[in-house]
Amino acid sequence: MTTLDIQINSPRTGPVGVDLDPAKLEFGKTFAPDWFVSEYRNGLWQNARVETSHNISLHPAAIVFHYGQSIFEGMKAYRWANGKVALFRPKDNARRFARSAERMAMPQVDTDFFVEAVKSLVRTDAEWTPREPGSLYIRPTMMGTEAGIGVHASHDFLFFILALPSGAYFRGTNANTVGTVTVYVAETTSRAAHGGTGDVKASANYAISLRTIEEGKKKGCSQVLFLDSNGNRQVEELGGMNVFFVEGNTLYTPPLHDTILPGITRDSVIQVAQDLGIDVRETPIQIDEAAEKIQSGRISEVFACGTAAVVIGINEFVFETGRRVVIGGGVAGELTRRLNTELQGIQFGRLPDRHGWTEVVA
Ligand code: PLP
Ligand code: COI
Repeated sequence: MTTLDIQINSPRTGPVGVDLDPAKLEFGKTFAPDWFVSEYRNGLWQNARVETSHNISLHPAAIVFHYGQSIFEGMKAYRWANGKVALFRPKDNARRFARSAERMAMPQVDTDFFVEAVKSLVRTDAEWTPREPGSLYIRPTMMGTEAGIGVHASHDFLFFILALPSGAYFRGTNANTVGTVTVYVAETTSRAAHGGTGDVKASANYAISLRTIEEGKKKGCSQVLFLDSNGNRQVEELGGMNVFFVEGNTLYTPPLHDTILPGITRDSVIQVAQDLGIDVRETPIQIDEAAEKIQSGRISEVFACGTAAVVIGINEFVFETGRRVVIGGGVAGELTRRLNTELQGIQFGRLPDRHGWTEVVA
């Protein structure tokens, strides 16, 4: 099969009777009608198609159920004011998917095939892209489907892509403005260790963070900040976002290494900040030192960023011990808001795309 051989087996169906008001769309709950899907058998991706999505049937011994051989991506299509629908940095998601697949002993999906698969789904369901500040969230996923209880890499795989009309990732925040969230600092669990899978999007990374997320929720936090697993209390990242600190006029974020996901939003924020003449330093950040600087006012803003949430302010850190550290005035800071405006301006086609990040597909 050539990479671009994708059958479109679905009529284009508009969102008749479905309310795509971004203010009413809870993240992750509304699905566009179609999916892209392809099966990997005998060493080849086969039968690539866009069709009406449906439940799937797998053997209970499928490798994914027992040994978690599964990876995913998160990306978005944005509806511009002129009606066009554009993807943001899709090739970067394709490259990260390829790295995740390699780490998890899964077959490669080549970059062109990945991007074309995403585009064919987005073109088919373009009408399901809500207006600004909403977006169409895209979830490419691959899993091992071979039945067999022996511990080994699957020989058969399913690669599928879902599309979800979305509003703000966090309830109560408005994707139009920059909201803030309260973040639980995980002091006794970590999400990644050296040599592990922290720098790829393995589903297992999320499985092991769920208990801590639930603990955090009980303490009023909607996200978790993970520290390094060596006990040095170095800041790594949130469960689904990278993190930045503002001290003076400088932006600080931990340097990438094998326990941190190289976020595409993180990279975009760094670039946008540099374009604005803001000094950015990728340097290790110690949580206790950062907490002290927050309390003394030297660190004035902390924010998180990722595809789903874009840029979101952090208003408070809550430690496992119960210690609470309020950040800035508890509202999104000036630089946080400025970076969000710049980034969303590019994503929604309002500002010049200096780096060739956007790709109009429909
Ligand atoms: N870190 C983790 C653990 C994530 O799951 C994500 C989201 O994909 C990010 C960071 C941010 O990455 P990106 O900006 O590419 O969405
Ligand atoms: C994203 O931002 O796309 C993510 O994948 C984070 C989260 C929804 C898991």
